[in-house]
Amino acid sequence: MNGPVEPFKIKMVERVGMPDEQRRNNAIIEAGYNTFLLKSEDVFIDLLTDSGTSAMSDYQWAGLMTGDEAYAGSRNFYHLREAIRDVLGYTSYVPCHQGRGAEHLMYSYLVKPGQIVPRNMYFTTSKLHVELPGGRMVDIIIDEAHDPENEYLFKGNVDLKKLQALIDEFGLGKIVFVNVEMNVNMAGGQPISMQNLRELRKFCNDYKLKIIFDATRSSENAFFIRDREKGYENVPIIEILREMMSYSDGCIYSCKKDALVNIGGFLATNDKEIFENTRNMVVVYEGLHTYGGMAGRDMEAVARGLREGAQYEYLKYRVNQVRYLGELLNKADVPIVKPIGGHAVFLNALKFLPHISRNQWPAQTLTAAIYEESAVRSMERGAVSKGRDKETGQNIYPALELVRLTIPRRVYTNTHMEYTANSIINLFKKKDTISGLKMVYEPKYLRFFQSRFEKISL
Ligand SMILES: Cc1ncc(COP(=O)(O)O)c(C=O)c1O
Repeated sequence: MNGPVEPFKIKMVERVGMPDEQRRNNAIIEAGYNTFLLKSEDVFIDLLTDSGTSAMSDYQWAGLMTGDEAYAGSRNFYHLREAIRDVLGYTSYVPCHQGRGAEHLMYSYLVKPGQIVPRNMYFTTSKLHVELPGGRMVDIIIDEAHDPENEYLFKGNVDLKKLQALIDEFGLGKIVFVNVEMNVNMAGGQPISMQNLRELRKFCNDYKLKIIFDATRSSENAFFIRDREKGYENVPIIEILREMMSYSDGCIYSCKKDALVNIGGFLATNDKEIFENTRNMVVVYEGLHTYGGMAGRDMEAVARGLREGAQYEYLKYRVNQVRYLGELLNKADVPIVKPIGGHAVFLNALKFLPHISRNQWPAQTLTAAIYEESAVRSMERGAVSKGRDKETGQNIYPALELVRLTIPRRVYTNTHMEYTANSIINLFKKKDTISGLKMVYEPKYLRFFQSRFEKISL
């Protein structure tokens, strides 16, 4: 099996070093067994996240030099507006420093205390930005998404029956909008189908409900629609994207993923009220409405990256590189979430480490063990990420207890994928020697970023 051929050549490289075993052992203890707390210089292959870790193209780097750093009315703001109109089809946008800045503006405007926000699986920062103004996020993704073995091709789909049940239980007044993520991150990078989006729009029209997308990974989702959904085989990605967005009333967007940049975000909409209200608040929290926390040069890089990230040849390579890593692991019977997602391969920690109980954090344990074995950094996406129940204060143990091997875009070669796969396969063979963790420090918000652990002896 060959890895996918890269549709680019490499013009600049960055040295990475392999820390020896002693250094790895010390580093993970110092980091409290939390891979977020490792120093990047102690990491060989960094698969913590695909967020802000892309390699920009020469065209994007050249764009940085054309940054217009005027406080107001930067030309790059208008370039980005053109790109958003062309690629996503929204007329208006509000720039933000990154995705959670857009979530803050959008959700603090739309969510009122006591309201419910149905969503096709939570995302960490999105859930918190719904909870801070007093709302509650409720999961309405199809059941298949909670089963790592289920090979359904559109596991990101919304279950309309679950949405109907919420309306029946709480009444329409409690639900203002439906929140829909593309290529659902916490489900394993799983796409939503165009048919599901179309049906959801019709459903929401009947109830006069708004639909707000988390369009962060919409280009990778569009690739899957083209690859898997009948009727879209030959449709250009941009047309698919515009059709997807046409079923929404607006979106939040973290540019740090599909737009191939290291920083940036925005919200975009065709809804005059959403636009005017969020544009008014951006000046309080982010910056003037024509830069929103980004430098002019950042907006230029986003404008160029948004277009590049929607090119078919690039997306094909991108998704196939993730698939390459997943297939190497799958062939060796390492338990992974199937089908293989768009931005990451997710290991099923409950199957990898069946001897470790949920309250000893199997996914967190596995991230630390992978690092100790190989200096590959991954991320926990399970109970530590999910946090505690807002009302009872108890830990929530989601069905999915996963480790995410997230592939930065255009950064690593297929040999890096092979090294990663071989290291994890070696670890899998001696999985019984791995012992669980005890949480010894827990911050109040988004605990997975900063919590600390100690090893429990076997
Ligand atoms: C689905 C999703 N939404 C929102 C965000 C938040 O974006 P940012 O990290 O740019 O604040 C992320 C980041 O990982 C994400 O994956």
